[in-house]
Amino acid sequence: MIKIAPSILSADFANLERDIQRIRTADYVHVDVMDGLFVPNITIGIPVVQSIRPTTALPLDVHLMIDRPVRYVKQFCEAGADIVTCHVESDTEENTHEALRIIHACGKRAGVVLKPGTGAEAALPFLKECDIVLIMTVEPGFGGQKFMADMMPKVAQLRAWIDEQNPACELEVDGGVDGQTCRACIDAGANVLVAGSAVYKATDIEAKIRELRG
Ligand code: DX5
Ligand code: ZN
Repeated sequence: MIKIAPSILSADFANLERDIQRIRTADYVHVDVMDGLFVPNITIGIPVVQSIRPTTALPLDVHLMIDRPVRYVKQFCEAGADIVTCHVESDTEENTHEALRIIHACGKRAGVVLKPGTGAEAALPFLKECDIVLIMTVEPGFGGQKFMADMMPKVAQLRAWIDEQNPACELEVDGGVDGQTCRACIDAGANVLVAGSAVYKATDIEAKIRELRG
């Protein structure tokens, strides 16, 4: 079954509770955390995760686009994140292992994220420790960008390695996923689709979530 993780980056921040209720037929709530250093944008942080936690029963899928996330993963877990993903480009290999270890020690699911310019093999040192691998299909930083179809071979490669090495691991894609591009992601082997603008711009959100499941 394909899971849908709407990104609240495209929600109305003055009405976050209402906009999280609107996606209750989805599988995860995708939370994009940006620090203005790792990416050229600043979004939401630990207090917001803590505030939205009681508003939904859905797992919070927290995508950290921050420098050296090992410094903050414990706080995000304690604030109520259920899944925490860290970019492999944001720290040393050793610190990324440490971040995954801390997330698991908090009893939460952990994963790594690859930017478009990062090769599939960058996920390999972490694959056995991951509950999820996230492949970016846009440059991280902003919602509403164009889907990069040339990332599909990378998704397919990760699917093959996950099936061999850690079949329980989920494979997520993020960026420019809509009613058209979802098909390529599913065909390449992704099982979790993040979608921000496609979901929140839809007049019928429930129907859009159904459509994205393929
Ligand atoms: C980009 C974020 C994405 C983004 C997706 O840095 O990680 O989650 O919000 O938005 P859309 O679906 O509009 O590309
Ligand atoms: Zn994201």
